[in-house]
Amino acid sequence: MKGDLKALLEGKLLPIELASLCKSYDIIGDIAVIRIPETLSSHNNIIAEALMQQHKHVKSVWRQASPVSGVFRLRDLEWIAGEKQTTTLYKEHGCLFKVDIKECYFSPRLAYERMRIANAVRNKEVIVNMFAGVGAYSIIIARHSTAAKIYSIDLNPVAVEHLRENILLNKMINRVIPMEGEASSIIHQKLQNIADRVLMPLPEKAYEYIESALSAINQQSGWIHYYDFEHARKHEDPIDKVKAKVSHTLQRRKIKFELAHNRVVRQTGPNWYQIAVDIHVTK
Ligand SMILES: C[S@@+](CC[C@H](N)C(=O)[O-])C[C@H]1O[C@@H](n2cnc3c(N)ncnc32)[C@H](O)[C@@H]1O
Repeated sequence: MKGDLKALLEGKLLPIELASLCKSYDIIGDIAVIRIPETLSSHNNIIAEALMQQHKHVKSVWRQASPVSGVFRLRDLEWIAGEKQTTTLYKEHGCLFKVDIKECYFSPRLAYERMRIANAVRNKEVIVNMFAGVGAYSIIIARHSTAAKIYSIDLNPVAVEHLRENILLNKMINRVIPMEGEASSIIHQKLQNIADRVLMPLPEKAYEYIESALSAINQQSGWIHYYDFEHARKHEDPIDKVKAKVSHTLQRRKIKFELAHNRVVRQTGPNWYQIAVDIHVTK
């Protein structure tokens, strides 16, 4: 869940202070994560109280103190109010996820995208999720489709520990298969030519892994859900830029492909966008 922080604080902060606030915040289970600029740090408690007043089930409030970064895609968090816990239970599309928001990547803002992919899955598909985190895409797909197996890889041992727990929590043993390690090595060693569909939810780096994703697709054909971050000025279309980049790579490799569908998943900053491109490849 996300909400409008400025609306919540109207009358409690000066208009000039409100103007410097980031509008949205995330609620993950009983934890709220907000972005407050350093200049407003003396108002942390007022902001946290307003949030907890509005969302009675929220037990702790954290300030996101850095952008998401590093191989594991983590962010620095500063405790502001309530319980000092970073682990919570989060519900999405009828599934339950145990998440440690400090030690694992997690974003509730991808809920629509996860269901969009789940809806595209056909009967008995074999799927490889190259960057599975705590298992949100994999488990939602398993719950809402008749996919046979979803191999779910992640490099972060804490994320994989949560993935294992979430598989049990959602009764997905034998359908969602956790694999700890580096995606391209695991695909190379164990998952060549097996997949009907490959997910690449690591927009910062997915481009570097296209070759691995292709090698996981079965001998006939399959889908690759490719994600990227793209910058676009006013007259530019971020989707066109990503499509051009992907097409160039696939053409160079002489792969038969169709860029069947694409969308802006979300805006991530001024002129920055997260883009999804669904690629159908024929071998
Ligand atoms: C942006 S997060 C996405 C997680 C999950 N799909 C989600 O939406 O919640 C990317 C994940 O990829 C993992 N990762 C990064 N590089 C990796 C690699 N080379 N092989 C496997 N996992 C990797 C990180 O640990 C992180 O959990």
